[in-house]
This record gives sequence, C-alpha cells and structure tokens, in this order.
Amino acid sequence: MDKGKTYKIGVIPGDGIGPEIIREGMKVLHAAEGKCGFNFEEVWYDFGGDRYLKTGETLPDSAIDEFRKLDAIFLGAIGHPDVAPGILEKGILLKIRFDLDQYINLRPVKLYPGVWTPIKDKGPQDIDYVVVRENTEGAYCGIGGSFKKGTSNEIATQLDISTRKGVERCVRYAFQLARKRGRKKTVMCVDKANVLTFAGDLWRRTCVDVAREFDDVKLDYAFVDATCMWMVKNPEWFDVLVTNNMFGDIITDLAAMTQGGLGVAAGGNINPDGVSMFEPIHGSAPKYRGKNVICPIATIAAGSMMLDFLGEREAAECVEQAICKALGEGYIKGLEAGRMGMGTSEVGDLIARFVTEASPTTS
Ligand code: IPM
Ligand code: MN
Repeated sequence: MDKGKTYKIGVIPGDGIGPEIIREGMKVLHAAEGKCGFNFEEVWYDFGGDRYLKTGETLPDSAIDEFRKLDAIFLGAIGHPDVAPGILEKGILLKIRFDLDQYINLRPVKLYPGVWTPIKDKGPQDIDYVVVRENTEGAYCGIGGSFKKGTSNEIATQLDISTRKGVERCVRYAFQLARKRGRKKTVMCVDKANVLTFAGDLWRRTCVDVAREFDDVKLDYAFVDATCMWMVKNPEWFDVLVTNNMFGDIITDLAAMTQGGLGVAAGGNINPDGVSMFEPIHGSAPKYRGKNVICPIATIAAGSMMLDFLGEREAAECVEQAICKALGEGYIKGLEAGRMGMGTSEVGDLIARFVTEASPTTS
C-alpha cells in the first residue's frame, strides 16, 4: 500500500436519496482513510435535478475538463420527478460515461452472508459472479430519429452500434478479470446471436480472437434470454459475463434482485486508463428523500470498489469485511426502505465502526 497518498475524489450526491447515501458512503471511506493511511481530497459538485430546474444546466463541458484531473468520481443517484425522463440521465450520467470513455460498467453480483435471496436453496457460495457491461456504445449511442412523428405512419429508429474497437476492449477486460478472480476462469459472452446475427457475429468472433491471448481462461456463449433463466435457476454456473450495453443494463437489475435487491448492488464505470466513476446501481427514489430509511450499503460497496480501483486493496477489504459483518451477524434486519431495523445514518455509523475494527489479510 502506498502510505500517505492523497486521492482527489469528485463527489456528486445528485438527486433524491443521493445526498443521504453519499454521506454514509463518505463516512465509511473516511473510516478506511483513517485506518489505512491515505487521504481524500474531496471536490463536491451539485449537478442534478435541482440545479437543472434552477439554471437549465445539466453538466457543462468545463466540468468534464475538471473531472479529468480527478482520481475517481463517487456518484449518488441521478433522476428527479419534475424533470422529463432522459434529460438528466443523458445530460449527466451518460455524458460522464461517454466523455470520460468509461467503457466498462462493472457490476459484481454477490450475495452477502445473512442477506435474503428470492432464489430458493441458493446461498453466498452460489451467487458470486460479475457482469462486464459495455458502457459507451450499443443502443445507448443516441443515433436514430423519427419520421412522420405524431401521425399514424410514424417511424422511429434507434440504432444499436457495436464497433470492433469497443467490443474488443470490453471483452479483453472481461478475460483479464476472469484471470484475476482466479475462480472458474470462464468468460461467458451473452448475446442474441440467433437473431441479431450481425452484432452477435462481431461479438463472438472478437471473443474468439481475444480468447487466444488467454489460454488459461475458457470462453462460453449464452443467449441473453436463456441467461435470465440461468441467473435464477443456476447462478453458480457463472463467473464473468460480458455483454452489450442494453443487455447488461437489463440483466443486472435481475441480478441485483438475486443478491438481495438494489440496496446492496454496486457498480463501477471504468476507464482503466482514465477517470472512473463508482455508484450504487439503484436510482434516486425521490419518495424516500430525507427520511433516513434507505439502505446505504450499495453506495458503501461502490466505495469499496473505488478503493480497490485506486489500489487501496487493504482498505477495500476492510470495507468488504465490515459490510459482511453488519449483514452476516444480523445487525441489519432487512434491506428494503424502512426495514433495516435502524436508519440510513446508523447503518453508516455501524459499518464505519466495523471498518476501524477490521483486520485485513491483504497488504
Ligand atoms: C443504470 C441506469 C442507467 C442506464 C440509466 C439511469 C440511464 O439504469 O445505470 O443501469 O440505463 O445505464
Ligand atoms: Mn439500469
């Protein structure tokens, strides 16, 4: 560990419950900071729905230029009930992902001990895999249009783009990850190659080419519909799944439910050579705003991913241990809003305390 290092972190609480969960996320990060001997320099940004309603501004290019100088970004949630769908998502969240070329959306699917899963007879040893979602192209590229809008002859197109470069770097990341995890060492390419034959063919050929660089990692394929079935029936089959932006978006909501819900599901928007952003995968849940009832663990787990990405593995492990203790030893009763047996800030206090008491095995 690099003792005494200072990391410059951009903090974007965002909308709804965003500020509450980010506060707890930062509380836990500060506990790790004190324990493991590095420092955070925080730069807070108020981008989100309220600022948009006041100023008409989502996220200026100048902010992106500032973000480029950060070590990482910690994001709460974006989405406001008084703003039409798409404006904040595209103007803030997707703009950051695209402009900073965060081409991987990394979503670990991990059932923590003590957490209820709707999947019968499956436990933490069965639900522990990672979805590598392509994060900068696919159907999210924003190319398309409409014709004869508002008439009965209306046509709408929305292109789903796969580039060789975009697919290849994503697939290579998945293979590297499977090797690093050292578990089943299998990458499963999730697609719809039986219908979307052009894109499916590009993805599969790219997988075959990249697989040649990794003779210790096995390549497998699955159709996305069948994958949904297996995620429920046999999640223990999975190790690393790699898929396009849209499929990845959809299957990770299903995956989150199998790991106990959105209260624990974290993700990282990763540019391995640039600035990455870490966030809970849930939304801004405006109806719970300010009520101190929402589970901050997804955000805390995203903070742990950020520590790992920064190279602070010992600190990341302390946070993981603390989450496992809080959940596995029955301190937290449930993950749904209002069902935790304590408030949002008390969960943050508890996990921060367990971080200070943790004994990491890595160094
Ligand atoms: C996610 C979200 C976003 C996405 C939305 C808010 C644009 O659902 O991070 O999964 O579709 O990527
Ligand atoms: Mn989503």
